[in-house]
Amino acid sequence: MCGIVGYIGKENEISTLFYGLKKLEYRGYDSSGLAFFNGKNFKCVKSVGNMDRLKTKLNLSEKFSCGIGHTRWATNGAVILENTHPVISQSGEWILIHNGIIENAEELKQRYKIETLGNTDSEIVANLLEKKIAGSSLEKIRDVCSELKGSWAFLILNRNEENRIYIAKRKSPIYFCDSESGKLISSDPICFPSKEYFSMYDNNIGFIEKDKIAVYDANLKLISPKKYIFKNKEELGNKGKYEHFMLKEIKETPERINKICEKYTEDYLEKIFKKNILSSVKFIKIIGCGSAYHSGLMGAYYFRKNLRIESEAYLASEYKSSRQVINKDDLFIFVSQSGETADTIECLKMVRRRGAKTIVLTNVLESSMAKLSSVVLPIYAGPEIAVASTKAYSCQVAVFYILTKYFKKLLGEEIDFEKEKDKLLVAAEKISDLNEEEIQNISICCEKVFFLGKGKDYITSLEASLKFKEITYINSQCCPIGELKHGSLAVIDDCSKSLIFLSSKKLGKKVLNGVHEITSRKGKVLVISAFQGLVKTSDKVESYFLNCRGLSSETMPLVFTVFAQYLAYFNCIARNLNPDQPRNLAKSVTVE
Ligand code: F6R
Repeated sequence: MCGIVGYIGKENEISTLFYGLKKLEYRGYDSSGLAFFNGKNFKCVKSVGNMDRLKTKLNLSEKFSCGIGHTRWATNGAVILENTHPVISQSGEWILIHNGIIENAEELKQRYKIETLGNTDSEIVANLLEKKIAGSSLEKIRDVCSELKGSWAFLILNRNEENRIYIAKRKSPIYFCDSESGKLISSDPICFPSKEYFSMYDNNIGFIEKDKIAVYDANLKLISPKKYIFKNKEELGNKGKYEHFMLKEIKETPERINKICEKYTEDYLEKIFKKNILSSVKFIKIIGCGSAYHSGLMGAYYFRKNLRIESEAYLASEYKSSRQVINKDDLFIFVSQSGETADTIECLKMVRRRGAKTIVLTNVLESSMAKLSSVVLPIYAGPEIAVASTKAYSCQVAVFYILTKYFKKLLGEEIDFEKEKDKLLVAAEKISDLNEEEIQNISICCEKVFFLGKGKDYITSLEASLKFKEITYINSQCCPIGELKHGSLAVIDDCSKSLIFLSSKKLGKKVLNGVHEITSRKGKVLVISAFQGLVKTSDKVESYFLNCRGLSSETMPLVFTVFAQYLAYFNCIARNLNPDQPRNLAKSVTVE
C-alpha cells in the first residue's frame, strides 16, 4: 500500500504537498517523492527512507501550482531510488505515481520491449504510455489501462501539460475534493480540509485542472463522480500528549468500548439489520487478515458458544484459493479496520457474486468494503493511525460480543441485552486499571518468544504474538499449548521464552502440563494468569497476575489483549524502535 497526494490550483508552497503526503506516511514509509511544476520548470525529488529524508532534499517554501506525491511501501521491486515514485518514462514525457499492482507488467514489458531503470510494475506503465503514438493524452491513458490487469490508482503528469493531473482508478482507492485554494487528490480523504469529497468508480479515468474536474468511463463517456461526506472528520488523530500514536490508541480502548456500548442498542441493531438476518443461517463465516482475522476467530468462538451455530474464521488471503464451499444459508462477516484490505475485498466481492448474505464490520464507513455491503457494523474505534492495530482489534472483539448477544435474542433466548453489555463496561474499567509500570518492567530479551494458550486464550496468544513480532522484530511464534508436543517443542531451549495466557481455571491443569514440558527443555516461562497462586514459580517460571476479578470469561480476552499490546509497546520502546512505523508493514494492504 502507498500514499498518494496531488494538488492543482493557486500558487502554493511545496510544504503543503509535502505535509499532505506526510499525513499518509502510515500507508508506507520506505521511500517517497514529489513531482511538480514550479512555474518555470518541472521538478522531481525523491528519496529512500522515511519522509524526513525527502524533506532534507526539498526547499519547502518553493512555489508550485501543480504537483503529485507518493510515499511507498515496497511490494514490487526493492527499496531503491529507481523504484521510488514518481516514476518517469524514458523520454521524460510521462510522470506517474501508483498504488496497487499490475499483474501483467512483465508480460507487457516483453511485448512492447520496454526498458526501465528500476524494476517496478509502475515504471512499465509510464513507459507504455510513451509507446502509444495516436490520440490525446486521455485516450492514451485509456488505451494503456485497457491493457492492464490488476489494481491501480494512478496520478499522471504529462510534461507538456502543466495545468492538468490525470487520474485513473481500478480497485485501489483514490479521492478528490475542492478546497478554497485548489483541488486536492489523495488515496485517503483524511488529507482533505473539507468534509465533502468525491471518488471514481473502477475503470474510470479523468483529469483535474485548476477549475475543472472531468471523469470518464472506460468508453470515454463523461460521468459524474461519486460524492461522499466524511463523518468522522473532527476525530482525526494527533498524538496529543503521547509520544506515539500506538500508546495513545491503546489508552483510548476503554472510552471506545464505552462508545460501542452506548451506540449498540437493540434499536440500533434492528435498524441496521431491518429483518432477521439469522433466518435460515446454518454457518457463520468470518473473513479478515492479520489482527482482523484474529478478532474474527474470537467472534466465531462467541457465536459457537452462545448460538450453537457452526462458525469459523478464515484468512482472506487463503479463502479464495482453498476451494471453500459457499452455501446459500451461509452468513459471511467481513472484518477490516481500514475497509481497504485487498484480499478481504476480493473475498467480499466473490461471496456477493455467489449471492450469500454479507455483513461488513469496519472502522471506516467511507471505505470500499463498507460500500460493497448493505449491512455495515461500525466499530467506533475512531481513527487508528499507528500501523499495529490495537484499539481497533479490541473494538472488533467488543462488537462481536454485542452481536452475539443480539443474535442470541434473535434466536429466541431470554437474555437481558443491556446487562450483557454492562459486562463489556466492566472489562473497559479493568483495562483502564492495567498497571503500565509493572508491564513496562517485563522485559523480554531472548532470541525467540512463544505465545501459548488454549481455547480463547490461544486466540489472544495469536494476536499477542503478531503484535509482539511486528513491532519488536523478535522472532515470535504462537502455538496452542496442547499442540507443543506435536513438533514445536523441538525449538524450545534456553534461548526461548514462552508466554502463556491463562484466563480459565478449568484449563489450569492442562496449561501447567505445558509449563512442565517447556521447563524440562530448559525453556523459560512467564504465565500471565487471572488467578493468583495457581502457578508455582521457580528460577525458570515467572508468573504475572492479571486482575480480572468480576469479569465474565467472555470479556477477559479484552484485558489480556490490552496487556499484550502494552507488553509489545514497551519492549519495542526498550529496543529503541518506532512502534508507529514498523518495518515492512503498512496500515492497510491494498494489494492482494
Ligand atoms: C496487525 C495489523 C494487520 C491488520 C491487517 C488487516 O497489527 O494491523 O495485521 O490487522 O493488515 O487490516 P484491516 O483490518 O485494515 O483489513
